Formats: sequence, structure tokens, C-alpha cells
Amino acid sequence: MAGERISQSICGRWWAGGHPRAIRVIRVIRESPRVHTLILDARIEAQPGQFVMAWLPGYEEKPFSLAEADPVTLTVARVGPFSTALHALQPGDRVWIRGPLGRGFTIEGQRILLIGGGYGVAPLAFLAREAIARGVEVTALTAARRAEDVLYADRFRDLGASVVVATEDGSAGERGQAPEVAARLLSSGVYDALYGCGPEGMLEGLRALAATFGIPAQLSYEAYMRCGIGLCGSCEREGVVLCLEGPVLRFG
Ligand SMILES: Cc1cc2nc3c(=O)[nH]c(=O)nc-3n(C[C@H](O)[C@H](O)[C@H](O)COP(=O)(O)OP(=O)(O)OC[C@H]3O[C@@H](n4cnc5c(N)ncnc54)[C@H](O)[C@@H]3O)c2cc1C
Ligand code: FES
Repeated sequence: MAGERISQSICGRWWAGGHPRAIRVIRVIRESPRVHTLILDARIEAQPGQFVMAWLPGYEEKPFSLAEADPVTLTVARVGPFSTALHALQPGDRVWIRGPLGRGFTIEGQRILLIGGGYGVAPLAFLAREAIARGVEVTALTAARRAEDVLYADRFRDLGASVVVATEDGSAGERGQAPEVAARLLSSGVYDALYGCGPEGMLEGLRALAATFGIPAQLSYEAYMRCGIGLCGSCEREGVVLCLEGPVLRFG
């Protein structure tokens, strides 16, 4: 798709003198009552799991996972002032972006299980597309509280993944929390690796599961981020600078 190409600097990270680049919204998809996807008029060279810093005048910059890099696509849950401002954007409006930043997912194994809680599915769809293009079999578990919050099931199907839906109240797909349903899938013994993105509690559950089943886990963590490039220390957790060494961490 046509669009502005964001070039990479010699250090492999777009930086453009430290200034975010203004990019127009070309399409808005209303995924659910609380979640919008913004498709932007730009493409970027990035790994699935990397993120960009997004900015609007009058707000602080905030990190968002790339749901797609060509064109740059962000899936935004409305939780506070900045995400509400992003939800108000219409085609033709501008948002300021810098990135890609951080370390993303590495594809390993021939059969992989992706587990996304809420908008955590966003970087996993990008990963699914790249993995399927390399001949890897992908199962995507999209988990949410209730049916109306389930995201990306059709998108994963269109990409060629097998899809499992899970809701906590059982209103769509399997009843249960993501790690519970993932445990049932992993007990088939067919998966070489698991990948997760979602709330902290879910990630801890997945980390424990991967250890139980003896497979590697790559999990994407969130933290409060300001600079996104390892300078301010705001994203450091247990000695790990998540914007540089993460957001994807590998276990096992
Ligand atoms: C690496 C990384 C990738 C991210 N990717 C995405 C993404 O793809 N899509 C996305 O929507 N967000 C993503 N986020 C979170 C995003 O950067 C913002 O934190 C979020 O949009 C909230 O900003 P806000 O100003 O709207 O709300 P804030 O003022 O920051 O928060 C408002 C209220 O909501 C609560 N809150 C904040 N974040 C969440 C949350 N995630 N879930 C529930 N409650 C919350 C806060 O505790 C506060 O009470 C990512 C964060 C990181 C670190
Ligand atoms: S956000 Fe500044 S060090 Fe990570």
C-alpha cells in the first residue's frame, strides 16, 4: 500500500533528529465499543512486537504496539485521556509517531501458540502474518472478558491461523481465563513455543505454563514509558529496561 516511508537511521532505529513524524490517519476500524484500530498513511520496517511512541498536541507521548507495519496500524483501547483523544481521530487527521522501538518477537518452531488478552492481540496478528508467510502453523487464542470485547478473531482467520476464542463469562468460545484455555491447548503437546501479550496476570500465568510444558515463551510486557530509548529509566522493572531489552522477553 502506498504511504510515506519512514526511513531507518544507521543505528537501525528511526530517529529523525528526535522529532516524531506527523502521519495522517487513512482509516478507522471500530473493533469493539472500547477499541479502535487506526490505519496510518506510512509504512515502517519493523519486527512484530516492536512499538512506536504516539503523540498528539497537548498530551504526553505513549507507546503502542505495531499491529501492522505496512501500513502502520495501531489498535487502541480507550482507557484515559490520550487513548480517548486517539479514538476521536478521523481519516485525514494527523498523529505523530516515532519508532520502531524495542525488541520484538523471534519466530521459533514449526507450530506456535499465540495468546492475546484484549488489545494484546495487536502485535500477535503482525507476528501471525510473518510466521505463516514462513510456513509456520499458527494457532491464535484471543481472550476477553465477554463476547463484545473479543478482538481480531476474523483477522487471525483471514491470515490463515487456527483461531480459539475464550471469554471469562463463557459468552463466546470457551469459558475461562486465557492461561486456563491455553493449558488445554498445550496439553495436546503439538506446540513448539508460545507467545503472549496482555495483562500482567495473564503473562505470569503463561510464563508458568511454558515452564510446566517445557517450551519457550516470548511475552510482551507493558511499563510506563517516557523516552522509549533507554534514557529516562521510567520503564525499568527488576533491572530490565523494557523499552530497550523488551517489551518482548524470552523465557525458557
Ligand atoms: C510497549 C507497550 C505497548 C502498548 N501497546 C498498546 C496497544 O497496542 N494498544 C493500547 O491501547 N495500549 C497500548 N499500550 C498502553 C498505552 O501506551 C497507554 O498506556 C494507554 O493508551 C493509556 O493511556 P491514556 O493516557 O489513555 O490513559 P492513562 O491516563 O494512562 O490511564 C487512565 C486510567 O486507565 C488505567 N489504564 C492505563 N492503561 C491501561 C490499560 N492498558 N488497561 C486498563 N487500564 C489502563 C490507568 O491505570 C488509569 O487509571 C502499550 C504500552 C506499552 C508499554
Ligand atoms: S522509557 Fe525511558 S528508559 Fe525506557
